[in-house]
Amino acid sequence: MNAVVIGANGQLGTDLVAAFSDQGDTVRGLSHGDIEIADLNSVSRALEELRPELVVNTAAMHHVENCEQEPEKAFAINAVGARNLARVSRNLGAVLMHVSTDYVFDGSKGKPYVEDDLPLPLNAYGITKLAGEHFVRSTTEKHFVVRTSGIYGKSPCRAKGGLNFIELMLKLARERGEVRVVDSEFVTPTSTAELAQQLVRLSRSNSYGLYHATAEGSCSWYEFAREIFTLTDTKVKLSVAGPNEFPAKVARPKYSVLENRALKSHNLNAFKPWQDGLQKYLGNRIKSASANAIS
Ligand SMILES: NC(=O)c1ccc[n+]([C@@H]2O[C@H](COP(=O)([O-])OP(=O)(O)OC[C@H]3O[C@@H](n4cnc5c(N)ncnc54)[C@H](OP(=O)(O)O)[C@@H]3O)[C@@H](O)[C@H]2O)c1
Repeated sequence: MNAVVIGANGQLGTDLVAAFSDQGDTVRGLSHGDIEIADLNSVSRALEELRPELVVNTAAMHHVENCEQEPEKAFAINAVGARNLARVSRNLGAVLMHVSTDYVFDGSKGKPYVEDDLPLPLNAYGITKLAGEHFVRSTTEKHFVVRTSGIYGKSPCRAKGGLNFIELMLKLARERGEVRVVDSEFVTPTSTAELAQQLVRLSRSNSYGLYHATAEGSCSWYEFAREIFTLTDTKVKLSVAGPNEFPAKVARPKYSVLENRALKSHNLNAFKPWQDGLQKYLGNRIKSASANAIS
């Protein structure tokens, strides 16, 4: 397999490049300096030179508040960018795997969303990502549109900056000894290392279409924090934040849990419960801390 990963120095992109390479694939990672997905000429130039069999797009504008403030820019990247990739991939005969989001749903279902549930995004980020999905699905038959949720990995998320949720919780516990977290928003924390392996597995199939891809199970952010502290044996006073303690500037779904129904129906679902991915992440974190201490 000759694959190109776009957004290669991002949170998911970094693990995807490693996952393809671990499987012996030829993989080329493109970062923002190598390609501008909102610009069709840039996309054509970059991909025509590499002539990949598979293009994986992780690039997006996904800082929710920034998307709300600059919806035209968000549309140019998340929707037109996806269309550009779909057009060029189709012309090259390449398969396009495009990463999308749980934020295409409004959260009112209160039960895990399956692929054919009606998307009703609440904000500009979700609307532009949904438009990107439609562009991909209507432009090239050879596509995988993959929605995921609550991702974290060893590389920080470039769009959001700073620390992922796990590192933030551990830092706050260390510095303050007390942490308050909301328990009214439900997600499925999904490790990018596991998601990357799942995407590689999916890329081997030709069952094109729309997929949900998250770890199994779900939790509130409060429950996620509690599991982080339990697994790391961190002594901290953890409590539930009040409903107005961290007011959101932009509407978000309160419940955006996804069920991997399409993966399961194709016998491709490799995900374990979210707690397993967290345990592995924390284990690797300890290993790299001891390796750094030795070197
Ligand atoms: N983070 C989450 O919790 C979450 C949840 C559900 C779905 N997702 C989806 O998962 C995907 C990957 O997220 P992530 O956390 O890995 O993102 P990330 O760390 O922010 O990485 C995104 C990458 O895309 C690049 N990029 C941004 N705009 C670009 C453009 N116009 N042209 C070319 N490259 C561009 C970024 O480069 P620069 O930083 O240099 O601009 C960066 O390398 C996104 O599609 C997102 O919508 C994320």
